[in-house]
Amino acid sequence: MTVEHPAVDPAPPIAPADQPARLDALEAAVRARSALVPRIGIVLGSGLGGLADDLDDAVAIPFDDLPGWPAATAPGHAGRLLLGLLGGTPVVMLQGRFHLYEGNDPGLVVQPVLLLARLGARAVFLTNAAGGLDPSFGPGTLMAIADHINLTGRNPLIGPNAPAIGERFTDLTEAWSPALRTRLHAAARAEGVDLAEGVYVGLVGPNYETPAEVRMLAQLGGHAVGMSTVLEAIAARWAGIEVVGVSLVTNAGAGYSGAPLTHEEVLAAGLEAGPRLARVIRRFVADLDA
Ligand code: HPA
Repeated sequence: MTVEHPAVDPAPPIAPADQPARLDALEAAVRARSALVPRIGIVLGSGLGGLADDLDDAVAIPFDDLPGWPAATAPGHAGRLLLGLLGGTPVVMLQGRFHLYEGNDPGLVVQPVLLLARLGARAVFLTNAAGGLDPSFGPGTLMAIADHINLTGRNPLIGPNAPAIGERFTDLTEAWSPALRTRLHAAARAEGVDLAEGVYVGLVGPNYETPAEVRMLAQLGGHAVGMSTVLEAIAARWAGIEVVGVSLVTNAGAGYSGAPLTHEEVLAAGLEAGPRLARVIRRFVADLDA
C-alpha cells in the first residue's frame, strides 16, 4: 500500500552561487534610498541596538522592506539596516540579525554581512550576547573575539560556489583580524573599559546549554557561547572583508550559578553593559584609519 503524504514545499537552500543575484537586488533596493558608501559594517546583537541612536543623517530600512528578507523575529532585535555617519565615519549598521534558530537558511543568515561587503564596507564588527564559559567571565564582561568554534553543524558556503564573491576553500587562519583586534584593545583602553579576550563558540540554539555542555565547551577551548556570529564571520572571510567583534557576556554559563537562565537577564545585562560597548565601538570606528 502506498501512503499518501501531504504536499510539502521545502524552500531550497540558498547556495553561495545564488548569492550574487540576490545581492544585486538587495544592493539596488538600498541604493534607491542612500548613496552612502560605508567604511565598516556593524552588526548589533541582542540588547545592543542603542548604538543606532548615535548615527547622524541615518537612513533606516526595515529588514522586510528588502527583497527576500523577513522581519527579524528575535526579541531585542529591531530588524533594521541603517546607513549613516558615526562620529563622521560612514557606516552601515544592522540592528538585529537572522538566526538559525528562527528557522532561517544559513544562506539567509549571512546575507546581511554579504550585503555590507557589497555596499563597500571593508570590515565588519560583529557583536553578540553570550554566556560565559570561562568561570572568571561574570555578567557584563566584554570579550574581544580572538577566534571561534563553529558547532552549529551548518555552513553558508555549502553548494555551488560563487567565484565572483570568494574562493571555494576559505582560509580562516586569521579569521578574526589580529590587526583590528589590536586597535580594538587600544580603543577600550582609551575609553577606560575592561576588555577580555577569548574564543566564541557558536551553537544553533534556541535552548541554552546544559551544564554538561558548558563544561564540555570550556574544555574544548571556548570562553563564551552563543547562537549567532560564526556563520557571519565565515561568510565575511569568504567575501574578503575583515572581521572584528565583541561578545557581551550576559550571564555565567548554565550550571555555574545554579540559577536558571532567562532571556530577561540576558537583555538586562545588555542594557547595563551595552553603553560601555557602544563607547568602545565609537572610539574604534573613529580611530579606524588613524
Ligand atoms: N548561551 C547561549 N547563548 C546565550 C547565552 C548563553 O548562556 N547568553 C546569551 N546568549
